[in-house]
Amino acid sequence: MFREPYLTAIPSTDKLDLMSIYDAIFPVLQTLDAERAHRLGIALLRAASQSALALAALRRRYEPLPGSVAVETMGLRFPSCVGVAAGLDKDGEAIPALAALGFGFVEVGTVTPLPQPGNPRPRLWRLPAHRALINRMGFNSKGAEAVARSLARSRTLVPVPVGVNIGKNRNTPLERAAEDYAAAMRALGPWADFAVVNVSSPNTPGLRRLQDATALAGVLDAVIGAARPVRSGGGRDGGPLPVLVKVSPDLSASDLDALLDVCLKRRVAGLIATNTTVSRAGVHGPAARRPGGLSGGPLFQRSNQVGAAIYRRTRGRLPVIGVGGVMSADDAYTKIKAGATLVQVYTGFVYGGPGFAARLARGLADRLARDGFNRVANAVGVEAARWPEPDERPGVPVTPGSVALGSG
Ligand SMILES: Cc1cc2nc3c(=O)[nH]c(=O)nc-3n(C[C@H](O)[C@H](O)[C@H](O)COP(=O)(O)O)c2cc1C
Repeated sequence: MFREPYLTAIPSTDKLDLMSIYDAIFPVLQTLDAERAHRLGIALLRAASQSALALAALRRRYEPLPGSVAVETMGLRFPSCVGVAAGLDKDGEAIPALAALGFGFVEVGTVTPLPQPGNPRPRLWRLPAHRALINRMGFNSKGAEAVARSLARSRTLVPVPVGVNIGKNRNTPLERAAEDYAAAMRALGPWADFAVVNVSSPNTPGLRRLQDATALAGVLDAVIGAARPVRSGGGRDGGPLPVLVKVSPDLSASDLDALLDVCLKRRVAGLIATNTTVSRAGVHGPAARRPGGLSGGPLFQRSNQVGAAIYRRTRGRLPVIGVGGVMSADDAYTKIKAGATLVQVYTGFVYGGPGFAARLARGLADRLARDGFNRVANAVGVEAARWPEPDERPGVPVTPGSVALGSG
């Protein structure tokens, strides 16, 4: 029978695998301008999110995840403790594909109440020698209403918890910030499994001052007041929406104490440690002089110190989501042992490619089994005591002291 020649070149549906295309394109992405590459990557993942065929192909390739990496915390079940950090899918467009790659949860945002373009470009740079990025995106966001619509559309396709990270618009004065957080919460809360109050981005002027006790208390009261008591997204129900606070790695130990005091009094569900750093300790070359927040390898130790300090101060009662410089399964395991109940990645995924989440989950399962832990929860905080206190002076280089560290 006559066949159109081009049809023979199209793979049959069971071989059709968008991720093979991604795999092929991944090295090309690395050569493009960093933000352009990011936009292309998200566009591919968004396309995959809209195709049942592509999602099924991804799942076949990256699942099943080992059972030992699943975690239950904050009233939610996470199929893997490795999730996507805020900033990667700011507008919540690629969640189904990210879940299908093997991520156990996705945090979208930071979402601002009103749409805003963020800072002028260029605003994202690679530092490949350090496995790091510097960004000064400045909360580019499609705004809370648009993101809520996007979350509503994909809700039934997403088998993992989804968090929404909220912030304030650049033009909102700091003294009115609480209103912005409440507005974002009202729009997005119904579609989220947990919410994250971002008071730690270095790229919105003055934002990090909201970590001060009085300001944070005001923001948290407004957010908790705006959180609907019942979660309606994806048929989930019961209990208040968990609200977490994301902290900066540049806090001094005493700032951290004051912040934790407020968080405990307001009964936040957990802490995310940490955002990017303004420190350039240990980083050299012209790219290091770019303005903005540094992420990736150089952030690993500092973010672990903050995570361990939170674990120690709260005696493990407040779950920590550990984020900063996880480039390998060893790093993820180190973070968990320092006190993290869950782990997030951003820069590691940028350098590691589409198989990164599944590799981390499998590598973690191997390490847990090797050390006789049958689940992540048993390893959380077992080495928290070994990490030094965060420096008293913000942004100062960290010396690991006697701790055996590594970000391999
Ligand atoms: C380009 C870029 C944009 C980011 N945007 C946000 C954001 O909007 N909100 C936020 O809370 N964190 C944001 N982050 C910080 C990450 O969520 C994470 O805390 C940080 O990058 C450390 O993790 P990593 O070393 O795995 O990248 C961003 C990071 C990068 C690299």
